[in-house]
Amino acid sequence: MTQTVASFVRGWFREPLPTFELRSPSARWGTPRAAVPARAFRVVDVIDETPTVRTFVLAAPDGGAPALAYRPGQHLTVVVDIDGRTERRCYSFSSSPLTGARPAITVRRTPDGVVSRHLHDRVRAGDLLKALPPTGEFTLEPDSSARRHVVLVAGGVGITPLMSLAESLLVGERGSRVTLLCGHRSADEIVFHERLAALQRGAPDRFVVQYSLDAPPAGWAGLEGPLDGAAVRAAVGDQPVDEWFVCGPEPMMDSVREALLTAGVPDGRVHVERFSYASTAAMRIPEREATLRFAGSGRHVVARPGQTLLEAGLAAGVALPSSCTMGGCGACKVRTLEGRVVMREPNCLTDAERAAGYVLTCCAYADGDVAIAGH
Ligand code: FES
Repeated sequence: MTQTVASFVRGWFREPLPTFELRSPSARWGTPRAAVPARAFRVVDVIDETPTVRTFVLAAPDGGAPALAYRPGQHLTVVVDIDGRTERRCYSFSSSPLTGARPAITVRRTPDGVVSRHLHDRVRAGDLLKALPPTGEFTLEPDSSARRHVVLVAGGVGITPLMSLAESLLVGERGSRVTLLCGHRSADEIVFHERLAALQRGAPDRFVVQYSLDAPPAGWAGLEGPLDGAAVRAAVGDQPVDEWFVCGPEPMMDSVREALLTAGVPDGRVHVERFSYASTAAMRIPEREATLRFAGSGRHVVARPGQTLLEAGLAAGVALPSSCTMGGCGACKVRTLEGRVVMREPNCLTDAERAAGYVLTCCAYADGDVAIAGH
């Protein structure tokens, strides 16, 4: 038992997956043209949330309100040039689009995180930051007539999109209740402590926050231990819940999701946010040319060996959507009608999406001719 818990905790707080390195075939066929160019934002404030977590508040380049439409829980793909390489990473909004506050992303600095180190160590208030348009399906549209109970489960900096969702629900759904469960290693790693306390004071009957610490200080009155599936079920008890949103390290999300599904919660009510950066390690890239048929336009496009579906489509002028180009955001998702692809793994596609024929064009290679819905 002790070993199981220890390995769970180790897995929970493991370092992030290696970042995606552009393969030589991409260089061979040219850098894919982004369907939508990156825009510049002015960083107008940098807030230290914890020793390793910072919030970057964004404005228009002139310092005014940015024209940036996003939904609660979505993320921005930040684009930075580091040592001659262009790097992209997805970071969730910690702000709510419904409160009138400036948009903000919150980033944890990780020792081997190329972009998170750059943001923490180099980017200061007044600097410009480039980003692609907001994307992401880990979201919920507040409905002012709704009367529901939404449970948010956060592990570490996974609180970020849940902060956006919590604020948005409390502002946009006056008849709904929100329960937020936050798991952290220690008290000094709690993110948004003051902001959450203020939200609680503003909506004491509709908003409950519970913290669970792995290393609680003496006299700690909250929950203790990893916020796994059993802990979440115990914390919520038999309260009816309409929607669950879970964001944190993969083992924690898997544990919570599995516990909820086992308890009979419908799959469609359990939302998890996965940021995975795909790698070409240990995969076979098809070595033959293939034809991509886009069912919407009837166009036929040749994908050369080593070209992703996205690269081939964009090179031929097909306006395919994309954002991170690393398998992490889902913006490039399309449904295949026929044919096989191989994809870089891990990526953010769910099992249900795979079963329904969806692929991520940014990390999929045609293994023979492929037909794609739409476009
Ligand atoms: S563009 Fe982000 S997953 Fe493909």
